[in-house]
Amino acid sequence: MRFSERVVDLVHSPIGAAHALVGLRTNSRDLLDLSQAAPSFPAADVVIERIAEAAHEPDVGRYPPQPGLPTLRTAFANDLSHEYGADISADSVLITAGCNQAFCIAASALTSPGDEALLVSPFYFNHDMWLRLEGIHVRHLEPGPDLIPDPEHAEHLLTDKTRLITLVSPGNPTGVTIPKDVIHRFADLARRHNIALIVDETYRSFRDQQSGTHQLFENDDWTDHVISLHSFSKDFAIPGYRCGAVVGGSGIITQSLKILDCVAISAPRIGQEAALAGLLHAQEWRLEQVARVRELEDRFLTVMANKPGGFEVVASGAYFGWVRQPSSDLTTAEVVRRLVLEHDVLVIPGTAFTPDDEAMLRMSFANLSPAEINELKLRLAEFA
Ligand SMILES: Cc1ncc(COP(=O)(O)O)c(C=O)c1O
Repeated sequence: MRFSERVVDLVHSPIGAAHALVGLRTNSRDLLDLSQAAPSFPAADVVIERIAEAAHEPDVGRYPPQPGLPTLRTAFANDLSHEYGADISADSVLITAGCNQAFCIAASALTSPGDEALLVSPFYFNHDMWLRLEGIHVRHLEPGPDLIPDPEHAEHLLTDKTRLITLVSPGNPTGVTIPKDVIHRFADLARRHNIALIVDETYRSFRDQQSGTHQLFENDDWTDHVISLHSFSKDFAIPGYRCGAVVGGSGIITQSLKILDCVAISAPRIGQEAALAGLLHAQEWRLEQVARVRELEDRFLTVMANKPGGFEVVASGAYFGWVRQPSSDLTTAEVVRRLVLEHDVLVIPGTAFTPDDEAMLRMSFANLSPAEINELKLRLAEFA
């Protein structure tokens, strides 16, 4: 058989590559895995108990309503309304099998092959991969030194083929929260050009408070040009239950539903039950975990302060440190290889998030325990 050239040549899974490197290890020392951003702690007891209980209910094995359980759509709309000081209706919420699926179906609903999309560099690799798989030409918007994208610069990159701009805030891989006034200017840009602004808010609970919560939902016409994407994976430590959401107007919900119907029919009901239990009963727990991740970030920044092994943190936030690697002789891919095989540290090369090798690495410190973060310092120092 022959395979799609787009799939074979254009996309390579960074997480798959990381796992392949691990397969080459011969050291017996435990690996410090800072690759895929995943909570290092289990879900709240109340969520786990609800999952166990739901498993015995006859409905749980049936297809759920396609846009999601009405109870979850309502609870999430209320949660968002509370946080953003807005009035978001349950009809604006489409439940998906995770935020990656939310992006894929929303982006596909907006584009045809040959269209263009704008991603801020460094971008979240799955966004870039999906768009290219769909035959979309991706333009990369270089941010300033503070890693904040500039809407005026973005405007110069728009053409009559541009259909969407995506912001990720807080960002993956940088952790940087985009200030609310900048997000508002991007929304204005989208409104003026009749395109969509997609804001991926997977890490919304880990937002830098000084940058403020955006107020896009307060505008009466937000549903005409804004799509907000969400995940329950990090907030409630349930990445394996695959639950996320598209939040938008009736247009994007209706068109996305057609695609969801083909790829998943609907999000798994057990994951929806887990997310619902989290929203209803684990809000305090969620805040405790946010504080816990902040403490991990503080520790990470402390151990990195003297640049162990020459590795320098350029930005951090949410789950991530965006780190410059010290070698001018080695490619970043080779540095990552040596970190895994010689120093037992697994990170994702920055080349997964940027078009060129900018000598950067993504370290997901939130995967580690405090003791492991201390150990990270020693292992990076060995690299020198
Ligand atoms: C920016 C961003 N969007 C989406 C996702 C995927 O989230 P989910 O587990 O809900 O599919 C991630 C996961 O790491 C992410 O970093």
